[in-house]
Amino acid sequence: MRRRVIAGNWKMFKTQAETRAFFKAFAPLVSASKHCDIVTAPPFTAIPAAVEAAKNTNIVISAQDVYWEKEGAFTGEISTSMLVEAGCRYVIIGHSERRQFFGDTEETVTKKAKAALAAGLTPIVCVGEHLSHRESGQTHKVCKTQFDGGPGLLTPDEFSRILIAYEPVWAIGTGRTATPEIAAEAHKFLRQCAAEKFSSAHAAALRILYGGSVKPDNIKGLMAQEELDGALVGGASLDPKSFASIVNFTS
Ligand code: 13P
Repeated sequence: MRRRVIAGNWKMFKTQAETRAFFKAFAPLVSASKHCDIVTAPPFTAIPAAVEAAKNTNIVISAQDVYWEKEGAFTGEISTSMLVEAGCRYVIIGHSERRQFFGDTEETVTKKAKAALAAGLTPIVCVGEHLSHRESGQTHKVCKTQFDGGPGLLTPDEFSRILIAYEPVWAIGTGRTATPEIAAEAHKFLRQCAAEKFSSAHAAALRILYGGSVKPDNIKGLMAQEELDGALVGGASLDPKSFASIVNFTS
């Protein structure tokens, strides 16, 4: 049985003060939740405040991106050891917004994932098709390209330590969620990619999160699908009550 993960991606939202206020309200609402791992990914500047606020709770902190070099003249970038020192345990890699606006590619995704794993961080590697791909029947092709050129290039041991997030771009921030069946079908396909590249054991153990307009009122339906091992939540993770009700979908 794969343990579920509910992760919140705050994107470019929340100052340090707002982060402290969030955790003050959120932590007590999920303190009794034992059925899943709970992850929050604040922007870089709010990570120390989040780590401090999440101390002695069941919430762990993720970064939203990382650079693969150890250190150097890379203005604006953050290294894996900086994230580890700050108290991060996870890092989101290859989010569609990074691919779309900041030039992430399959190649950079692989480099970032390898560096993160070497530092002991758990990468959440994002894949997913645009609306035009889905409408022209290219969903599998796009997911396979992103899988094969990204996580597919990790070693079997590395691969066993990552999570994948399936985030169809047309469902991100649009209020248009993939139906549980559409999401499950894509997850099944990605699991099949993992079986082909690695092994059926790797595929069976792989945790695949769904992301794209996950809300308190659709999480139950999504999680009813065995293929979905959790969620990567954007907008609805910014409010403590709404994120807590997503985390507590079983109650
Ligand atoms: P929304 O939940 O706001 O659609 O964002 C999803 C997402 O991109 C999470 O990484």
